[in-house]
Amino acid sequence: MMHMLKNQEQVLSKIATNDGHGENSAFFDGWKAYDSDPYHPTKNPNGVIQMGLAENQLSFDLVQKWVRNNPKASICTTEGANDFKDIAIFQDYHGLPEFRNAVAKFMEKVRGNRVRFDPARIVMSGGATGAQEALAFCLADPGDALLVPAPYYPGNDRDLTWRTGIQLLPVVCESSNDFKITREALETAYQKAQESNIRVKGLLLNNPSNPLGTVLDKETLTESLNFTNDKKIHLICDEIYSATVFSQPDFISIAEIVQENKNCDLDLVHIVYSLSKDLGFPGFRVGIIYSYNDSVVNCARKMSSFGLVSTQTQHLIASMLSDDVFVDRFISESSVRLGARHRDLSRGLAQVGIGSLKSNAGLFCWMDLRRMLKEPSFEAELELWRVIIYEVKLNVSPGGSFHCSEPGWFRVCFANMDDETTRVALNRIHKFVIQNKGVEANNGKKQCRRSKLEVSLSFRRLDEIMMTPHRMSPHSPMSSPLVRART
Ligand SMILES: Cc1ncc(COP(=O)(O)O)c(C=O)c1O
Repeated sequence: MMHMLKNQEQVLSKIATNDGHGENSAFFDGWKAYDSDPYHPTKNPNGVIQMGLAENQLSFDLVQKWVRNNPKASICTTEGANDFKDIAIFQDYHGLPEFRNAVAKFMEKVRGNRVRFDPARIVMSGGATGAQEALAFCLADPGDALLVPAPYYPGNDRDLTWRTGIQLLPVVCESSNDFKITREALETAYQKAQESNIRVKGLLLNNPSNPLGTVLDKETLTESLNFTNDKKIHLICDEIYSATVFSQPDFISIAEIVQENKNCDLDLVHIVYSLSKDLGFPGFRVGIIYSYNDSVVNCARKMSSFGLVSTQTQHLIASMLSDDVFVDRFISESSVRLGARHRDLSRGLAQVGIGSLKSNAGLFCWMDLRRMLKEPSFEAELELWRVIIYEVKLNVSPGGSFHCSEPGWFRVCFANMDDETTRVALNRIHKFVIQNKGVEANNGKKQCRRSKLEVSLSFRRLDEIMMTPHRMSPHSPMSSPLVRART
């Protein structure tokens, strides 16, 4: 095996043999554990529950109903087959005009119609993954860097750096101020790069944030824009979770800030978007680059040949997103359902004393298990994580894989499963906490049996949670092959 690997390094490229994809990281152990033993309510009730997947599956019934009621939108139906040939032979990398119009309108709607998007600036890509990479190719050269507030989405490492040769430098954000991005933290990261002779070409923000589930306020967005303008570097805003906001404060797009700050350099501002989270269509690979810079639009459009959205998908999406009644209903209902699920999960955790960062968006909670670590280290975080995967049988994601600067935080996804599975997951957490507490009491020591976890939790309302009637949903838990893109 070793011999084979060495051989491959000799005959293949550096990209093919380096570890830029990141699949060999500890992060994937949880996915492997899930894949080898996936939970199923009847066939495998003791299997691993997948809580490591940021997928939005809560409103699929609405989409399915729309698809049934609009057979003309699908070119493989009796009603739509007349369009088959025209759609199948279209291969212009500008995309179908109706697709660009519909996406621009949808993006405006999600932003409360407070901003306008020019369809001529919409560039297609294979998901936000492709959008990030194409932008990186347009904005930076190998060795250059982008600053990224941490904790951040682990896929950024693959998407922005693997094939482009650029690097990401974390802007350290801390729990003491709820991981707020401050000018000071930005300056520190910039300064550090300069001291190492690394050319910083931009700042990448993710708003709302994966993994925090929080939105950036106006002050932070304006400060970030001022910072990038002052340094004459790019500002990229990944707004892939823009329609997942389920409570106040509202989402504010960088497009609104730009509109208000007439003096900012528009050539330096770019938005990344996709339909993977807001509509829950990661399989359609609909990604968008929206750049205010004409040259970037032109170059990215040429590059988009490497990752176009199939015209069949464009055609369907154009019809779907042009249906105002459907879109309005979907956006509001999806946010209600996400809010309800978020409340169920965060309350369920709080009832056994587990806190999570106050959040109002996204498909996950940022769970605080710092008190359960044996010691404040990333080794201890991984140790606790292994217990949660292999014993509690929940695949949650450790903060270290998001480049979090403090050990003990875990991302828990909640929108890729039905109500019943959520209830089972919460029951497992409660049992785990009780067991540890019981052992602790029996031993008279502040230690738990298997993992020596320090716990100090309250169980007052545990029965209440166990007895809570739950909504049944028609969804079944989805399987997740390891080859899935990291979400
Ligand atoms: C912040 C963020 N950006 C980009 C992506 C990639 O999304 P896509 O499926 O559109 O490639 C993800 C997926 O999880 C994400 O969370």
